[in-house]
Amino acid sequence: MKRPVRIAITGAAGSVCYSLLFKIATGEMIDQDQPVILQLIEVPEAMGALRGIAMELEDCAFPLLHSISLHDKFEEGVVGAHFVLLLGAKPRGPGMERSELIAVNAPAFADQGRAINQFANRDVKVLVVGNPANTNALCASRNAPDLSPAQFTALTRLDHNRARGILANHTGANPKDIRRVTIWGNHSNTQFPDLGHATIYGEPAMSQVDENWYRDHFIQKIQKRGAAVIEARGRSSAASAAQAVINHMHDWINGTDENDWVSMAIVSDGSYGIAKGIVYSFPVRCDYGRFQIVRGLKISDFARKKMTATEQELLTEMKTVADLLPKETEASHQNLSVGLRSGQYLRTDRVR
Ligand code: LMR
Repeated sequence: MKRPVRIAITGAAGSVCYSLLFKIATGEMIDQDQPVILQLIEVPEAMGALRGIAMELEDCAFPLLHSISLHDKFEEGVVGAHFVLLLGAKPRGPGMERSELIAVNAPAFADQGRAINQFANRDVKVLVVGNPANTNALCASRNAPDLSPAQFTALTRLDHNRARGILANHTGANPKDIRRVTIWGNHSNTQFPDLGHATIYGEPAMSQVDENWYRDHFIQKIQKRGAAVIEARGRSSAASAAQAVINHMHDWINGTDENDWVSMAIVSDGSYGIAKGIVYSFPVRCDYGRFQIVRGLKISDFARKKMTATEQELLTEMKTVADLLPKETEASHQNLSVGLRSGQYLRTDRVR
């Protein structure tokens, strides 16, 4: 039996976690033979609800669930963590944009970055889900001077999954036969869901869909899907977000499927001309617990405009949180040659 790994999770009594925790405990996130220790973190007012969830987890008698601890202090909950999932944040309501949450949410992520730097395992992998996820991840990473920026990511797998699911529904294909979809940029309504390199049953997706449908309907549908779910449900996505967290972490840990790539928001190393140092979603392949940006994709003028628009939004968001970004970590975020590019030596940079 493997030694258990520690997973620290904020917002643990929230609705995303209500789906997520049970998936983690059955081995969906890491592996079917990997025991886990859940270090569940909540604000003091939610500790009662969290105790109820812990009882339910216990009542499932999951063989892989080694133990559970409950925390109302982040610094205690993150001790020794190999994986940190930052879900806890004020959610947006109907009619709001995620960027409106920066002032209220970003400072907590800067604090959490400092605590992760101090108390988590040195090889920790961090996923930020709380919105605005990209800029919150930047705040966390910039406040963790002893860790690599490549240890911090934000979730755009939800958008990536949405793009595959909606394209599958439109074309009648099975989502598993849709590959090489890319989400570029921010997890916001400026993101660019790019089908320019996508395939359906191995053939170019763009030869199987109408260009006008793609440009006038599909792109906006993905960009605004989170808001549409809020409008319909009265609250933000929960089960689909949990599934995306599972997919993101599973692939980061275990590797990307052959012939495919995934979208992850990571600190930009300047690839595709995107400003260095912002957290931007790229097409990546994962292997050996690392990720590597897929290189050499041809970028059309149409795509370039969309990629630049979402980059500009992230640069504006970065200015808004300038006070939370210590000078001492600026250089490490501008030069990622060790953190991001090292994967090149483990795997040849080709699409099979
Ligand atoms: C989503 O995309 O569903 C989440 O980011 C929640 C939101 O505010 O839309």
